[in-house]
Amino acid sequence: MTSWPSPTPPEALAGRRARLRERLRGPVLLASGSARPRNFPAAKYPFRAESHFLYLVGRPLEAAALVLTAEGEVLHVDPPHPDEALWRGETPTLDELSRELGLAVRPLDDLTVPEGAATLPPQDPEAARWLTEVLDRFVEEGSGRELTGPDAALADAMIELRLRQDEGALAQLRQAAEVTAAAHLAGMRATRPGLREARIRAAMEAEIVAAGMSPAYASIVTVHGEILHAERHDGRVAPTDLVLADVGAETPEGWAGDVTRTWPACGRFSETQRALYEVVLGAQERAIAAVRPGAEWREVHRVAARAIVEGLVALGVLRGDRVELAERGAAGLFFPHGVGHLLGLDVHDLEDLGDRAGYAPGRTRSQAPGERYLRLDRTLEAGMCVTVEPGFYVIPRILDSAAELGELAHAVDRAALARFADVRGIRIEDDVLVTATGSEVLTASVPKAPADVEAAMRG
Ligand code: GLY
Ligand code: MN
Ligand code: MN
Repeated sequence: MTSWPSPTPPEALAGRRARLRERLRGPVLLASGSARPRNFPAAKYPFRAESHFLYLVGRPLEAAALVLTAEGEVLHVDPPHPDEALWRGETPTLDELSRELGLAVRPLDDLTVPEGAATLPPQDPEAARWLTEVLDRFVEEGSGRELTGPDAALADAMIELRLRQDEGALAQLRQAAEVTAAAHLAGMRATRPGLREARIRAAMEAEIVAAGMSPAYASIVTVHGEILHAERHDGRVAPTDLVLADVGAETPEGWAGDVTRTWPACGRFSETQRALYEVVLGAQERAIAAVRPGAEWREVHRVAARAIVEGLVALGVLRGDRVELAERGAAGLFFPHGVGHLLGLDVHDLEDLGDRAGYAPGRTRSQAPGERYLRLDRTLEAGMCVTVEPGFYVIPRILDSAAELGELAHAVDRAALARFADVRGIRIEDDVLVTATGSEVLTASVPKAPADVEAAMRG
């Protein structure tokens, strides 16, 4: 049984706000966003507050705004409308909320916008419209746009705080990891040939919902692991299939787990599946072993890429000199994405701020195959949380494309690859905390060695 989620203590949230204010000269206004209507106004998608707001307030309050100035901190939110109690039950009064959060709480109508307030682009268009109105300047919604002036300074201060997880954040990430682990065990146990992928997904998400959490992103549960973010769940699982499940839980405060496991539908890896699985597992273990303070993330990626190349040369799928193949980016033919990303409040943490967050100042994305999807290029520091998720995929769009293959076309032994026809996609992903001396795998309880996966499937 997993424990019920517990909230971040108000003092921890107050500490974050204090640290942010220490780093900034000017005032700040951050909106929480609002639930989006799905067909008519009263029917809404589940609400997910903006991550920067959640980081500082810790509660998913709708249509709220946090104002930080040199003088103090005020949370503005509409008092509950009397009619709301009929439909949604009682919600805390502003006084109750204020006591719970240890923060001044006032109605939205009382908001006085401080001159020159900085903000960050929200994901919610409604919040962007509201900010445009109250700040009297255009605020665009969406990711990664160029920020200037005080907004840029605010983004940099938030990045500085959120890059390394504090104690409160770690408590949340551990809770998300625990429930994510339970979901993967449930998925392994629920798998039987003949079931639809949707049934396995349901078993996994049931654990998440029963633990008071929600999926942190659209669950990937598929026999087509070669489709990196497969969205369909209608396929039936054949006895010779591998099931790839990339599923994570999110705490009510928005902190994410992000784990992938790949298991044999029939409960036992075939020899060919096991051989390729061991290659990916070896790459993941070597990459995790490279995670430590002072290590370059780009190098962690290359450790995984080299291990994939070496494994594929040993199996005869790639031919040539392994060092030269690795240097020419041969791993990218079968492992085209980056080895992982920051994890925190967002499953790809801080990606709403684009490469400003993922890339250290002065660094830009390489266009080299296999590295252009590297979401992170920073020196690792204790407190950072990352995913480590190498994979092996047989992707026709790459392997049938002369342009993608380039001069590496001759390096792929098609006959050897055909012997592994019962493998389309394998990914193994864990959530890893950088510690003072190395790393800690937060999701270590999810079975990973082939024998452990097979044992977990037997229940
Ligand atoms: N679940 C998306 C990813 O692993 O990055
Ligand atoms: Mn994932
Ligand atoms: Mn991931």
